[in-house]
Amino acid sequence: MSNNQKYPEIIQGGMGVGVSSWQLARTVAMHGQLGVVSGTAVALTLARKLMDGDPDGHVNWAISAFPFPEIAERVRAKYAPNPNQEGKDKYKQVPMPTIEYGRDLLELTVLANFVEVYLAKAGHYGIIGLNLLEKVQVPTLPSLYGALLADVDYILMGAGIPIRIPKALDELSQNLDISLPIKIAEDDSKEPTLAHFSPKEFAGDHELPKLKRPKFLAIVSSATLATHLSRSTFGSPDGFVLEAPVAGGHNASPRGKVQLSETGEPIYGERDIIDVPAIKALGLPFWMAGGYGSYEQVQMAKQMGAEGVQVGTAFAFCEESGMEKSLKHKILDAVRKGVAKVRTDPRASPTGFPFKVVEVEGTMGIPEVAEKRQRICDLGYLREPYKKDNGKIGYRCPAEPVKDYVAKGGKLEDTEGRRCLCNGLVSTLGFGQERRDGSKELPIVTSGDDLKYVVRFFPKGESVYHAIDVLRVLLGGKLTPLS
Ligand SMILES: Cc1cc2nc3c(=O)[nH]c(=O)nc-3n(C[C@H](O)[C@H](O)[C@H](O)COP(=O)(O)O)c2cc1C
Repeated sequence: MSNNQKYPEIIQGGMGVGVSSWQLARTVAMHGQLGVVSGTAVALTLARKLMDGDPDGHVNWAISAFPFPEIAERVRAKYAPNPNQEGKDKYKQVPMPTIEYGRDLLELTVLANFVEVYLAKAGHYGIIGLNLLEKVQVPTLPSLYGALLADVDYILMGAGIPIRIPKALDELSQNLDISLPIKIAEDDSKEPTLAHFSPKEFAGDHELPKLKRPKFLAIVSSATLATHLSRSTFGSPDGFVLEAPVAGGHNASPRGKVQLSETGEPIYGERDIIDVPAIKALGLPFWMAGGYGSYEQVQMAKQMGAEGVQVGTAFAFCEESGMEKSLKHKILDAVRKGVAKVRTDPRASPTGFPFKVVEVEGTMGIPEVAEKRQRICDLGYLREPYKKDNGKIGYRCPAEPVKDYVAKGGKLEDTEGRRCLCNGLVSTLGFGQERRDGSKELPIVTSGDDLKYVVRFFPKGESVYHAIDVLRVLLGGKLTPLS
């Protein structure tokens, strides 16, 4: 961002789990644009990094800066490397998120989000955002608070209707106790179920630090939703990212009855085209996303009235991204040979949203490989809370063992083709679980339809590229590091 510009031209999109690493976000921020880290499941990845011994020491360095040292030490001790794992899974179990949120997971979640933002912000004056998915409801408040403790500049949230987030940020940034209603399936009671977070309770005897209220950008795929959010009594977002269905990760479902193409992919039509003038008329800044990974596209977005663009795919495969290197290089190799394929899978994600998968050998992007996986649900980020017959709240995921899901009242047909994104996406980073029977959780890779174009970022004669190569292309060569 140059000195006379109010907003960044480029937002490096938040990519879960951990693909938008702090290394990537930091590089982007150091070149004047908005670098975004993903907050999704970072509690889990932090624990696994610690269990792996944190070889480069960055995580431990950031943990030492956490304002509540006893909490930091408790987490460090709990997830210390333990080499005597024979006959056990490689990584020990981290508690699964639930509405009551046990103290251990609470400490880990706040700390993990703090660490990710703190590392991304270290040593420069650039700006950093945190991306969360609205659908992953229960970790939201502790995740936001962790990011606030590290002085996060922007929060970005999509995959749902993040209507209460502006107010939540107003209150959390004043260290006020706060509650967020959680959607519960099969709950016909009038009383909302609330998730609570109390900064005071969390910090114990410590004085609470003064916090900044970050800006909030809602990621939307329709003018109707943007308008609804901008008029909310919980406060308006500070801007919007308008995401088209060619974008990587989860996509909005097509409007109306879902029709599938010959290849089984959802068909998007006229009604799915975002009404940009209607969003412009709201008078808030906005960024275009989904297939905007070139200089020409950035210029086009600006002509439509956008501040700039949010780009994911181009950054997902650069050297600084969190994706495990040999997997990333295998995909780049396939791109170079013109054989890399991306499929919009309407079934893969337990959330029910279409999810883009790269069809790469040895990953769950290949249906036959995915079908062979023995179902197990031990990470639990995409579980849906539901009301049991006895009035208590249970949790279920359509990718868990079929008989468990059905026993919890889930529909058999909802389990078909569902993939365990929790284990798959963590494995994509190189932190996949190795089971006691010797089997390994396989990765699942997501990308936008732009994957085939990432060759444009390779410097001459090279077979890999860096975040600055992407920025250079997007900005038409005008790359100015912050002083
Ligand atoms: C690997 C990958 C993971 C993603 N994960 C998320 C996510 O966790 N949350 C989110 O809001 N968007 C996610 N996205 C979407 C990006 O933030 C961004 O909006 C999108 O990639 C822009 O379109 P493009 O892929 O055509 O550049 C992801 C995209 C990719 C490529």
